[in-house]
Amino acid sequence: MGTSWNPTVYGHYADERTRPYYELVARIRNESPGTVVDLGCGTGVQTATLAQRWPSAHITGLDSSADMVADQPSDLPAGVTIRQGDISDFDATGVDVVVSNAALQWVPHHRELLATWASQLGASSTLAFQVPGNFDAPSHVLMRRLAESDEWASTLSGVLRGGDSVDSAEQYASAMFDAGLTVDAWETSYVHVLQGVDPVLRWVTGTGLRPVLDALDDETRPVFVEQYRDLLRDAYPQAASGTLFPFRRIFVVARKD
Ligand SMILES: C[S@@+](CC[C@H](N)C(=O)[O-])C[C@H]1O[C@@H](n2cnc3c(N)ncnc32)[C@H](O)[C@@H]1O
Repeated sequence: MGTSWNPTVYGHYADERTRPYYELVARIRNESPGTVVDLGCGTGVQTATLAQRWPSAHITGLDSSADMVADQPSDLPAGVTIRQGDISDFDATGVDVVVSNAALQWVPHHRELLATWASQLGASSTLAFQVPGNFDAPSHVLMRRLAESDEWASTLSGVLRGGDSVDSAEQYASAMFDAGLTVDAWETSYVHVLQGVDPVLRWVTGTGLRPVLDALDDETRPVFVEQYRDLLRDAYPQAASGTLFPFRRIFVVARKD
């Protein structure tokens, strides 16, 4: 069974989570693509915005989570479809623009998939993706360390993946060059200022912590969460203006000329 997703919990901090999507899409040069696919689109809220830029395109958002897909906007623009599907099964043949925001890190063999899609794309097509580069940030290191501790390892060992979940911007760029594409790759470290109590816990509850939450039962889950929350409080102190949460992200826009 895959990781569970909760659209409401993931929807917190929507502004911070959606900004990279727009910064990624802004670097795509295609003016009037016929077919656009958004891989791991979540509820499709951001996918729908692509219709403003490309009003005559057929735009499809694919996501493996039935819960995310069920929460898709009821007022999708004409030409936009959000449906359930697995990134592993995607075939890029005939697609003009492939977008994927904050999803490929969940797919361990995405490097092989990227090479396959690069070979399937036709001339003037673009493959644009963003993945988090924060697996060595305190939020994730502390989560892994606690999960591997004597108290939790029997249940949680191996549940979380580490820095090998994603490559560096240079490695992705190099792979795309090898596949014959031109590349625009960069990194951005956002310094989010999160409001409220235990905001980093709230943030990761929507994403990175989900495999742990799925692996624990109703009795053990709150115990782990409380221990992890205390570690986060030390690592990300709350100030009057909010809690600073640095977050590095890796962007790649590769184009077949
Ligand atoms: C962090 S969310 C990103 C959602 C959206 N792209 C965004 O930027 O807000 C990751 C999404 O990837 C989806 N996902 C993870 N593995 C997937 C797979 N193998 N195939 C399709 N979707 C997948 C999850 O269901 C989830 O909705």
